[in-house]
Amino acid sequence: MSQLFRRKNYSETDTSTHLLRVLGVWDIVFFGIAAIIGAGSFSSLGEAVFRGGPGVILLYMICGFACGFTALCYAEFASRIPAAGSAYTYAYASFGELIAWVIGWALIMEYSFGNIYVAFSWSDYFTSFLGRLGMHIPDYLTCSYTEAKKAFMSGSENRELINAWKTAPLMGSLKFIVDIPALVINGLITWLCYIGVKESKNFNNSLVILKLAVIILVILIGFAYINTDNWTPISVETGTPSFMPNGFAGVMSAVSGVFFAYIGFDALSVLSEETKDPQKTLPKGMIISLVLCTVIYIALTLVLTGMVDYRKFDGVGDPLSFIFEKSNANVAWMELTVSFVAIVAITTVLLVFQMGQPRIWYAMSRDGLMPQKFQEVHPKYKTPAFATIITGVVVGLPILFTDKSFILDFTSIGTIFAFVLVCAGVLLLPAKEKIKGRFHLPYINGKIIFPIIFIGGLVAFYFWEPEFFQNLMKWNDPKEGEFRASIFFFILINIAICILTFIKNLSLIPLIGLSSCLYLLTGMSHENWFWFGIWFSIGLVIYFGYGYRNSKLSKS
Ligand code: ALA
Repeated sequence: MSQLFRRKNYSETDTSTHLLRVLGVWDIVFFGIAAIIGAGSFSSLGEAVFRGGPGVILLYMICGFACGFTALCYAEFASRIPAAGSAYTYAYASFGELIAWVIGWALIMEYSFGNIYVAFSWSDYFTSFLGRLGMHIPDYLTCSYTEAKKAFMSGSENRELINAWKTAPLMGSLKFIVDIPALVINGLITWLCYIGVKESKNFNNSLVILKLAVIILVILIGFAYINTDNWTPISVETGTPSFMPNGFAGVMSAVSGVFFAYIGFDALSVLSEETKDPQKTLPKGMIISLVLCTVIYIALTLVLTGMVDYRKFDGVGDPLSFIFEKSNANVAWMELTVSFVAIVAITTVLLVFQMGQPRIWYAMSRDGLMPQKFQEVHPKYKTPAFATIITGVVVGLPILFTDKSFILDFTSIGTIFAFVLVCAGVLLLPAKEKIKGRFHLPYINGKIIFPIIFIGGLVAFYFWEPEFFQNLMKWNDPKEGEFRASIFFFILINIAICILTFIKNLSLIPLIGLSSCLYLLTGMSHENWFWFGIWFSIGLVIYFGYGYRNSKLSKS
């Protein structure tokens, strides 16, 4: 049993990288915005608004809050193990091999599966950009088979998807519907990663400025077209005007799309060795970038839901240009500008993730948990060549047979799960001595404060939605049943955490991170959990069939 939790020792020599400490707060903020703002804001925002209506703003605040606390936990790990790392490396040193493997496996969902969604979104903007220039690719070559089928079966109003299903040529008895632009961009990005594209700070900064400029433009111009009646559409449940037309359960069902918009900040923690005075700079930079992104997302949601009725966003993959279409605000130049900038902005996120995945596999392979091939470095380009190609395949193949919403849910559940483990992990770390120049997560005893926050939150929620709590055990309700069951388990788990905190004097900051990430998981449907369970089981089979026996630690 103890073998499953064998830990890797990272000595100071492993971790001293002699990198120059050049990054200040605003550099960290820029890196943050580069990694965070992408398909989530340009694309998944549309589906989130469709599900939750204007009330989805609340969810952006909750996610920003959860990510802020998780970011601090990442920083604490990074300061202890400043070797090039991700949550996988941190977990290997603190909890041992099995949990490290589980996190590494969950990170595939963040990096590779996340990129499938980003590639689909890239394709949405690319095709709409071409369309606006008068070049039309047949609809059945610009969307996925399952997406078109689902839209047709559910009687969706999305014209492109319905048209794709109706006009697709037959291949035997199967309709030929493939998202060609998504496949092509994945191929191109894989090739760039293979030949080792170099990131440059100046180029990165100009892209961030471009991204921000266009988003601010959308907000400023969009404000002029707002019809405030759209902010209180008719509630599906009560028939009266409401900020949350599908109730709070509707808002929470948008969690995948909203959370996805925040993914990427975790990449910042690896910059600790290159940051000036990381103890102050790193958390400041991370929190500023998360606050900025939260403000941007709230403003964008206000504009989108104010300009266009939230129901029109069903299946819309390019919402920021959609709002300027002829049938909406009718501002042609904005449609074109937004589509173009979105293509560039989304490409940068694709690159970050497609470069991250092979490096995690590289580290896992070096530890013996993945086959040796994954550490192969290209003799000329000096990139992890094999791992890069496999990443391309892992991203490319599912483009053929999955759809955006499935992938979005799958990515978000895996990433939130990894965040939960990171926050829980920080709770288990032994106290460390403060070293000047390194980030140190302040310890605030949660013994009394955490139970007070939890019970206070519960009481406030009770007074806000008394009916929800009175029906908490009615799980077979078709609309809210799943959400009620999840909240029930969330409350149970938190009671256990409160008791543990009281006994063990656990630290408040990671506790809040843990509890808020657990809360985000309540928005997941049982279908998401089912697929996550399958993915998780496959991971365990591979670990016990391969990693456990081949681990470097089993030989030492
Ligand atoms: N947050 C990143 C994006 O929105 C993953 O593209």
